[in-house]
Amino acid sequence: MREGQATAIHRADYTAPAYWIDTVELVFDLDPAKTRVLNKMRLRRNGDVAPQALRLDGEELNLARVLVNGQGTSFKMDGNQLVLENLPEGPDAFDLEIFTTCNPAKNTKLMGLYVSNDSFFTQCEAEGFRRITYFLDRPDVMASYTVTLRADKAKYPVLLSNGNLVEEGELEDGRHFAKWVDPHKKPCYLFALVAGQLVAREQRIRSRAGKDHLLQVFVRPGDLDKTEHAMNSLMASVAWDEARFGLPLDLERFMIVATSDFNMGAMENKGLNIFNTKYVLANQATATDADFSNIESVVGHEYFHNWTGNRVTCQDWFQLSLKEGLTVFRDQEFSQDLAGSPSARAVKRIEDVRVLRTAQFPEDAGPMAHPVRPDSYIEINNFYTVTIYEKGAEVVRMMQTLVGRDGFAQGMKLYFERHDGQAVTCDDFAQAIADANPQSDLARLLPQFKRWYSQAGTPRLHASGQYDAAARTYTLSLTQSCAPTPGQALKDPFVIPVNLGLLDAQGQALPLQLAHWAQAETGTRTFVLTEASETLTFVNVDSAPVPSILRDFSAPVVLDYAYTDTELLTLLAHDSDPFNRWEAGQRLALARALKAIQGDSDLAQTPVLDDAYLDAMRQVLADPTLDAAFKELVLTLPSETYLAEQLDVVDPQRIHAVREAMREQLATALQTQWQQAWEDNRDTGGYRPDPVSSGRRALAGLALTQLCVAARRSGDTVWPGKAFQRFKDAANMTDRFNALSALVISGHELAAPALSRFHALFKNEALVIDKWFSLQAGAPDHGGHVLPAVRQLMTHPDFNLRNPNRARSVIFSYCSANPGAFHRSDAAGYVFWADRVIELDAINPQVAARLARALDRWKKLAEPYRSAAREAIARVAAKADLSNDVREVVTRALA
Ligand code: ARG
Ligand code: ZN
Repeated sequence: MREGQATAIHRADYTAPAYWIDTVELVFDLDPAKTRVLNKMRLRRNGDVAPQALRLDGEELNLARVLVNGQGTSFKMDGNQLVLENLPEGPDAFDLEIFTTCNPAKNTKLMGLYVSNDSFFTQCEAEGFRRITYFLDRPDVMASYTVTLRADKAKYPVLLSNGNLVEEGELEDGRHFAKWVDPHKKPCYLFALVAGQLVAREQRIRSRAGKDHLLQVFVRPGDLDKTEHAMNSLMASVAWDEARFGLPLDLERFMIVATSDFNMGAMENKGLNIFNTKYVLANQATATDADFSNIESVVGHEYFHNWTGNRVTCQDWFQLSLKEGLTVFRDQEFSQDLAGSPSARAVKRIEDVRVLRTAQFPEDAGPMAHPVRPDSYIEINNFYTVTIYEKGAEVVRMMQTLVGRDGFAQGMKLYFERHDGQAVTCDDFAQAIADANPQSDLARLLPQFKRWYSQAGTPRLHASGQYDAAARTYTLSLTQSCAPTPGQALKDPFVIPVNLGLLDAQGQALPLQLAHWAQAETGTRTFVLTEASETLTFVNVDSAPVPSILRDFSAPVVLDYAYTDTELLTLLAHDSDPFNRWEAGQRLALARALKAIQGDSDLAQTPVLDDAYLDAMRQVLADPTLDAAFKELVLTLPSETYLAEQLDVVDPQRIHAVREAMREQLATALQTQWQQAWEDNRDTGGYRPDPVSSGRRALAGLALTQLCVAARRSGDTVWPGKAFQRFKDAANMTDRFNALSALVISGHELAAPALSRFHALFKNEALVIDKWFSLQAGAPDHGGHVLPAVRQLMTHPDFNLRNPNRARSVIFSYCSANPGAFHRSDAAGYVFWADRVIELDAINPQVAARLARALDRWKKLAEPYRSAAREAIARVAAKADLSNDVREVVTRALA
């Protein structure tokens, strides 16, 4: 076993630490093969806890010396823990000095201290600090840090750590040093250091409160021209948190550093955020609109952690969503506020809900389902999930819905008044929001509301309506249920805020009036469902209404309502809520897709889409009042993954064939409108990544793809030729990449020369080469060509399994994002998957465990896929020396 025995850790077992660490003085002698770490701590016993030995966590460290108050002492090892039993008794503080060495160059897990492109970086969340020194590696132990870095000056001219630089200077033998003091106490997971040849874009800002700050974005020399957008995003983040929540920057200096080797997106280390290059570097020549918008939200996310995560942190890792759900909610709100117009806000909301439904809903229905606040885990790294993050954000959003936007801001204020500087729980957060709004539904329903934290699974909301023309009443019945999840057979009812509006058959809003209301209301009203079943009876209803339920997606549930086509067409054309307009279009497509998937018709003979649907899409495309970004979302068919989730038994090949047939039909039937959309939107002028022009590029890109798909059908060469021309001439990466994708997706022979030209153009841009790999590994499968292509790509000189971005661009794009190519009837996709999980696990367990999740939903697969998938998972599980990370995933999958 590489990592000690895999045992589950339970939330209920939490106890306070037996010791506190008040101060930490770290001295690093940085050397790739052997870095020396001197860790001098001042500790004291926690008087609230029975006297006991001090047990410090450590992993892959070489221990040289331990001193207590300057004297040698006895110690023993218990697995990975250093145990000290003969410590001074009584309440007085004492010094503990620990001297260790580690090998950053060999650290392929990218946790703790590691080397990337000849520079040093750290990643300590969740439990990486123990790979740097022995410590109480838990978030409720908060200390003041002083850090001295010493390294060769020529190789590592820049030396960074958290807080403020207080001293720097020369040492012997061409070495130098820098000393940093962090003015804020912090848990060790927020520690960071960086050393290397880096350059910075700098910006001085003055806050609303009149304080001056230095913002810096550090990158490798040569990348400085790709930092402007990250810096702008950082400035916008600082301004937004002050304006919306009254939360200022609490540091003189705030640094972002980019590294190309990073397990996740980014990390909110106090004052020294470390980012995956993917979420920092962008200019119009190398990054797409999607990249620009991801950078904005990730920069915002990490910055917002400075308050929600750092100033107030988590008591234990079961509370991870306390900081992650809340911070995702904040970054979503930030992006919406920056987007501006109601339509642009809705586009962002739709994109967020799409992520929730295609990634979180499946997670919540599969073997890894867990509550937003889990009760147990084996490997905490496996719980940085879409449930903790995205569903956690939805839970916070529902709180805001229940107390209102101002009430929520008041709640945040109270949260910081109560808990600044503390390590707290999800309960503490919910309590603060409720206490600041004593008259609210949240306060009234708090214990029940908190089931969103304790119960896993996606609730289903079943709705049905009945109109009584004689009585002029409309009765809406709402019923909720939630399927069992691992360890939770029965669920109690949730608190579900249901945003509702009623339309008449012409699409006009109908007034809403419950029987006991004095007068009618117009627009959207929030009804709070708390029982398993409830009925709403509306009076004075002049005509049969079309209900617009769950506007703006007011709760993370599946809504079952037996809409007729006519009702959906009314909502699509007229609903005042853009989210539900989009949703109506998706439901129309979904109904047709499911019918074709479940039938056995020959797709070449029987069209999947009918005139009603095609006419509606034609109208959307031609509607001058709709934004291009919104049209692009409506005209994009539900993904194969989303379609699969709607079925009890999944035949991935049938789903793929049906969706491809739909795409082709939509392409062919709407050719005139696609051409118009292309002409209207192809030129967006000088590049700016704003919502309006990026929406236009998105629609032009979809139109071009559709025109190439239609051309494949007809054998016409004009549009592929235009796409190739566009690919060559494009003035920005969005247009260039969309044109390249159009050729690849339509399977045209011009794709090959375009791909090689693209590689030649960008061979020195790692992030662009990732796109090049990813596009090929994610391409629609034509006769099984993708897997051999993926195997070929893995032999390309630019492929590198050790670099997570590159591994993801090829392997994940195929296994996790290309179901039609991955689920092969000959099982070769699964064999490939198992080999890669095993291979990656020896290098980087965190990345391997993510890949292991690609077969989460194997039990839903039809034969022969199901048996073949099971066999592949069992082969991985049978491996003797798996990491805890992968073992936990495959064990749960087979359970
Ligand atoms: N706290 C980081 C973020 O959400 C994620 C870090 C996760 N890292 C890890 N190794 N699990 O911004
Ligand atoms: Zn986060």
